[in-house]
Amino acid sequence: MSKRVRKAVLPVAGMGTRVLPGAKTTPKNLLNVVDRPILSYVVEEARAAGIEHFVFIVGRGQGAIEDYFDANPEIEGALEAKGKAEILADVRRDLGKPGEMSFIRQMAPLGLGHAVWCAREVIGDEPFAVMLPDMLMAAAPPALAQAVDAYEKVGGNIVAVEPAPEGETHKYGIVALDRKGGDGQNGRLNRMTGMVEKPPLGTEPSNLFISGRYILQPEIFQILETQPRGAGGEIQLTDAMATLMTRQDFHALEYEGTTYDCGDKIGLLRANVAFALARPDLANEARAAIEALL
Ligand code: G1P
Repeated sequence: MSKRVRKAVLPVAGMGTRVLPGAKTTPKNLLNVVDRPILSYVVEEARAAGIEHFVFIVGRGQGAIEDYFDANPEIEGALEAKGKAEILADVRRDLGKPGEMSFIRQMAPLGLGHAVWCAREVIGDEPFAVMLPDMLMAAAPPALAQAVDAYEKVGGNIVAVEPAPEGETHKYGIVALDRKGGDGQNGRLNRMTGMVEKPPLGTEPSNLFISGRYILQPEIFQILETQPRGAGGEIQLTDAMATLMTRQDFHALEYEGTTYDCGDKIGLLRANVAFALARPDLANEARAAIEALL
């Protein structure tokens, strides 16, 4: 039987170039979608998939991420004194349980592969999830739970994928599939035969891009240790996965749900609109406000 997935790596050190200047003093993954930071949704998604330990890979100036998941006696005390029970519950929902969160400094922005490698000592010798938090996924069951479910069926390594918008495959990691080697799960879980990071337009092996949820085996760390720089001069997770794929099984999961790229202005706006419209307490007011603007 496969080992259970208990830990998740959340690389959050990126500068958030596409959402500056907002991301100058607020780490991009703490920008709000409606009334909660992006990371709050992603941690909730991880918990729903059974994750018990969170490994945040942070950069300089991102202490606010640690503070967000820590208790704040001043705010909590004031809310308690004023009897604001509902807001207090919202504030407390995201608090980390003692010992369940680790924060690791990446120290230099050398790429996603390097960020994941920084987690090796905390992960140890067990399978783990990687979640790219700026890719916010609205899905039922939640996207990582779908990936864990796929992992429990086929083992090995799982990479969530979805069709890239027309003409945008060069911005992502792109996978090649063997649809005949699938498990028949509505055709959504298929054996992977290749992957490439940011292929030049016209050379992409398919239109399916790596969308930001992975289940990986710990052998990836030995490969990342000596992984040369790839696309964009960065140490790429995709390149290390392509090497691991010569030794272990990889399946691509076309998860059921919608992805919002919150590292992008319009993606963040779409997420705000979609999440507000999906909230029973806000939907009517949000719809009226949006319609009035159109
Ligand atoms: C990273 C990954 C890429 C993936 C993308 C999803 O790229 O390297 O494979 O498709 O995230 O957002 P980045 O966005 O850091 O350039």
